[in-house]
Amino acid sequence: MATQLFEGKEHASYYQKFRFEPSQEIIDLIFSYVDERLPKPYGFAVDVGCGTGQSTRILSPYFKKVLGTDISEAQIEEAKKALGFSNVTYSACPAEEVPVGDASVDLLTACAAVHWFNIEKFLTEVDRILKPRGCLAFFSYLPHMEVHYKDRSEQMTEVFTEVEDILSPYQHEKVHHVKTGYKEIFEAIPYTDKRRIESVVTKIRVPLTGLMGLIQTFSMFQTYLRTEPEKAKEMIRTVEQRFLHIMGTSSTETEVEVWLRNILVLASKPQ
Ligand SMILES: C[S@@+](CC[C@H](N)C(=O)[O-])C[C@H]1O[C@@H](n2cnc3c(N)ncnc32)[C@H](O)[C@@H]1O
Repeated sequence: MATQLFEGKEHASYYQKFRFEPSQEIIDLIFSYVDERLPKPYGFAVDVGCGTGQSTRILSPYFKKVLGTDISEAQIEEAKKALGFSNVTYSACPAEEVPVGDASVDLLTACAAVHWFNIEKFLTEVDRILKPRGCLAFFSYLPHMEVHYKDRSEQMTEVFTEVEDILSPYQHEKVHHVKTGYKEIFEAIPYTDKRRIESVVTKIRVPLTGLMGLIQTFSMFQTYLRTEPEKAKEMIRTVEQRFLHIMGTSSTETEVEVWLRNILVLASKPQ
């Protein structure tokens, strides 16, 4: 089952440590869309498939109440450890059955998550819980990231692409939704007010350890690790050495810049 890819406790702690928060560009696009459709102050947001809460906590300043939900108890347990967000709560439950009332939600988000759900059932649930004019935002980074470092970005990106190639046999079939830029999911949304934006590029500076950690959060890496544990661990060691060699440093704390292309789908329920 696709959802079991995120059940492990160790995987969840990698998530907490190494997953990036959604970028400001994506947040700005979401809120300029929401601003045009809903009166302020905003009441209630739900972040579905919230993982360890990186995509949930960022909603906290904008809403009176925020709920993060995920099918994985291990991910929810990690999410609850982040302190200082008093209006944010979490619940372990399937995306297709969100424990909130009809027409109660102003904004529903799913970051790097909607492609894992049963799309038909999930969209029926979204329609039940969104308020009239309520908005949804489904977004994800796309494959083929670039890794930039001084004048060695081409070599760095080549190594990253090799990693993606090694891992691709372990990719779950549902990831095709991401590769095709959520086109099918976009088509399935039963609202006329909707848009799909593919042009947003996010640039994130992380130490090399952060990039190596991010690779280990990928579901396809976790599948590789379960299938071929020794080979998977060896790949991480070798790839880190190759990056360090290209960078001409021995410090894994040296920063690189990761460029991510994003897909963002926005829609609003009719009045
Ligand atoms: C790639 S992670 C994204 C987590 C988080 N939104 C982020 O951006 O870091 C996908 C999450 O979707 C959850 N998930 C998968 N299928 C689900 C389902 N049917 N219902 C609820 N959550 C689900 C997984 O447990 C996992 O935590």
